[in-house]
Amino acid sequence: MYDIDKIRSDFPMLQDKKMQGKPLVYLDNASTTFKPYSVINAINKYYLEMNANSHRGDYDLCYNMDVEVLLSRKAIAKFINSEVNEVVFTSGDTESLNLVAYGYALDNLKKGDQILISETEHASNVLPWYRICELTGAEMCFLDLENNRATVNSVSNAFKKYKNIKIVALAHVGNVLGYEINAKEIASICHSNGAIFVLDGAQSVPHMPVDFKDLDVDFLSFSAHKMCGPTGIGCLVGKYDLLQKMSTFHSGGGMNVKFDKEGVIPLDAPAKFEAGTLNLSAIMGFRAAIEYLEKIGMDNIHKHDVELFDYAISKLENHDNIIIYNKDARSGIISFNIKGVFAQDEATLLNSKGIAVRSGQHCAKMIDDVIKTPATVRMSTYLYTSKEEIDIFVENLINGGDILDAYFFN
Ligand SMILES: Cc1ncc(COP(=O)(O)O)c(C=O)c1O
Repeated sequence: MYDIDKIRSDFPMLQDKKMQGKPLVYLDNASTTFKPYSVINAINKYYLEMNANSHRGDYDLCYNMDVEVLLSRKAIAKFINSEVNEVVFTSGDTESLNLVAYGYALDNLKKGDQILISETEHASNVLPWYRICELTGAEMCFLDLENNRATVNSVSNAFKKYKNIKIVALAHVGNVLGYEINAKEIASICHSNGAIFVLDGAQSVPHMPVDFKDLDVDFLSFSAHKMCGPTGIGCLVGKYDLLQKMSTFHSGGGMNVKFDKEGVIPLDAPAKFEAGTLNLSAIMGFRAAIEYLEKIGMDNIHKHDVELFDYAISKLENHDNIIIYNKDARSGIISFNIKGVFAQDEATLLNSKGIAVRSGQHCAKMIDDVIKTPATVRMSTYLYTSKEEIDIFVENLINGGDILDAYFFN
């Protein structure tokens, strides 16, 4: 039994919050999620009771923080089924992808090599690769999507079309169209063609069970703030032998065995990637977030997203004036437009009704070529979104206020 009222009571941002004087309906969870009290308390606990640095001291407070960092790393490893030393703390998904780019790709790619992505990727899974191409002479190539999706077949075809692909980098679930890719089969195709596979898990890890070992991807990235955790913390999970071979990206305190006039000996992974003081309060909050998600169950969270998706689509699909770009996605994301209404105007109108959605290109600035529209409105749910909120959203979309009523619904 999914107790939505109980879940909602765990979130301060869901307690009588208003926007524009109306009860807040928050449908921008693909951007960032609310935090339950348990996460906020864990962050506070660091500042109120535990404040010290980790890996640097010989007194109890420091030792306690070493334990906290280890416990969080272990919790994350269990959550996505990796080894503990395969979990690297980063500032978030974006930094994780940059770490693969600068730590792996920069050393391993040369002129003529290719990096395969899709036009539906988020900027964070495009721009680091562009930079690597500038630095190495490698070139970008793009999947021929099938029905706007990165399919197993399209990846297979890409390896026939492009002969020097060394890295394939794709979102597990897209942040605009919400399609899930078959990461396991794609990983297998990449490996049989001598390429590594980087999976951007920003929109999947928060919403469904993700098993790093089972998928057999080489790298997996995600951010805590999209899964009830704090901002400023995330992970790169990588196969240990690859992490060990990679160069460091940031250098400084805490990542070296020693340095002298001869040079530096870095620590083993993951420590060699974690230079400087870690974001300790966030690391504690991240573990609390994972414990919270595990309590509800990732299968249940995914089922809840899909139920709300089906419910919203069933209410919207009969309205000719609403163009939905991903009716068949079945994740927590619906991207749409009202015919003749600019996406940002629609989002502004919804804001006036207390409804938070996102409009534009959602950082996927090549997607306009795929869905043939310059901008969309995106609503995205999470584990605390209620059916009543979907009703309010649908109601306001259909009876969109004077402007929309006058032009489109009369
Ligand atoms: C698919 C995808 N990749 C990467 C990112 C970047 O995440 P962050 O801003 O937390 O680094 C996002 C954020 O929306 C995303 O949706």
